[in-house]
Amino acid sequence: MLQYGLQLKYAVSYFAVILLSLAFINVIPVVRYRDLLFESKYSTMQNQASLIASSLSSLNTLHSDEVQKVMELLDEAGAARVIVTDEEARVVYDSVDGASSQGRYVLFSEVILALEGKNVFNAQLREGVLTGKACVPVVTRGSTIGAVYLYEYDAEQAALVTDLQNTLGRVSGAVIAAALLLAVILSLLMSGRIRTILDAMRSLGEGDYRARASVRGGDTLEQLSREVNVLADRLQQTETMRQRFVSDASHELKTPLAAITLLADSIVQTDGMPMNTVREFVYDIGREAERLRRVTQRLLELTRLHNPNEIKQDRVDLQRLTEEALKMLRPLAQERKVKLESRLDRGCMVMADADELHQVIFNLVENAIKYNVPEGQVRVLLYPLEGNACLLVDDTGIGIPEEKLPHIFDRFYRVDESRTNGDEGSSGLGLSIVKETVEKHGGKVSAQRRETGGMRFSVTLPLLKTEGHGERT
Ligand SMILES: Nc1ncnc2c1ncn2[C@@H]1O[C@H](COP(=O)(O)OP(=O)(O)OP(=O)(O)O)[C@@H](O)[C@H]1O
Ligand SMILES: [Mg+2]
Repeated sequence: MLQYGLQLKYAVSYFAVILLSLAFINVIPVVRYRDLLFESKYSTMQNQASLIASSLSSLNTLHSDEVQKVMELLDEAGAARVIVTDEEARVVYDSVDGASSQGRYVLFSEVILALEGKNVFNAQLREGVLTGKACVPVVTRGSTIGAVYLYEYDAEQAALVTDLQNTLGRVSGAVIAAALLLAVILSLLMSGRIRTILDAMRSLGEGDYRARASVRGGDTLEQLSREVNVLADRLQQTETMRQRFVSDASHELKTPLAAITLLADSIVQTDGMPMNTVREFVYDIGREAERLRRVTQRLLELTRLHNPNEIKQDRVDLQRLTEEALKMLRPLAQERKVKLESRLDRGCMVMADADELHQVIFNLVENAIKYNVPEGQVRVLLYPLEGNACLLVDDTGIGIPEEKLPHIFDRFYRVDESRTNGDEGSSGLGLSIVKETVEKHGGKVSAQRRETGGMRFSVTLPLLKTEGHGERT
């Protein structure tokens, strides 16, 4: 798993840093303490040895009895062993072996160096014991007549060093354990947060655009999750737009296709239809086919990302447009046994996209017929009022319950799916397209329940201001 690779790397480097610092903490104080110990040993032993050497320097030559006497006067307590040699490195005094070692050669390197005139000091800390050796020459009138060798061992001070070492070791052990625990916890937390982001991304990849990653912590991971969410928002938006486009497009294509089917059916099913009626129907079919062509053209333009809110501005005669739409719907009204009547005033000119307004009128009247009852009625009124064109579509149909009214302009909203009598063409899009189109043209649409039953849909659109040149139609 990838995420574990990353965390392992972090955990290992974090751990390495801790180990390195612990190593320093363990070594440096111990070394420093030992050095201090050596230094203090050095100065005390050196002082002691020098004191003995200077006391002996009053003698011309070093003989054991004289040395013995001097040594007795000095209190050399503290040193474990004191050896005095003559200039040939033969023992003249030994505090441990006494007389038995007298005359023997002491070939310690310290003694040899001291006889050459040097002050020597050596200290060692080994197996819990601190040993110190100091050796100085005994000089009388410029010549070396012997050497004083001191040997000391100290278990107490050494124990302090060992103790310090052990304590540090124990503390380090505890710190390592805590760091390990912390590393595990942190990496678990981190892997949980990374997994949240990965899961969200995986869901997005699988097409669930509602997936979001919510990671807190004010760090890079939170930033990452926020970026993922921004991406998801964008994807969701695009997806919504895509779905909307597809459904709107099929709805727009549906209307002219339905009209063509109805007109063709009437020609086929009416026996002995007069020739000029047939011609008229065929003409209408041609016109609807032309509309179909325009709709597809517009859809193609939309895919090329033309601004969908840009309106093609034509001078549109609403009376003619409404009549055309009603004509297309007459066969449906007949089929449903609904009486379709209209009173359309002249002179309702608006600036609009004719195909889109046709769709508005068609959708409203189609609904009025579809959601009507046999022997019911649909009345369409068009008149100018205070600078607006008003279009009313009244029906005597089944109506819409008051509480559902606020939703009917929502996309895909259908009041009661069982009411459409198996009309598989019903998608709940018609009214939402009506509202969108009317508002895009600067107008308003509303629905009211009629007291006598049925519905009234009213559309108002701003009338074209006549410029006094008369109208060209
Ligand atoms: N005149 C009306 N009388 C009664 N109910 C209506 C009327 N007009 C619309 N409705 C209700 O409002 C709902 C939404 O209408 P809309 O035109 O948006 O969708 P639709 O007719 O179901 O499908 P389509 O997309 O084919 O138009 C309808 O399903 C219907 O229940
Ligand atoms: Mg409809």
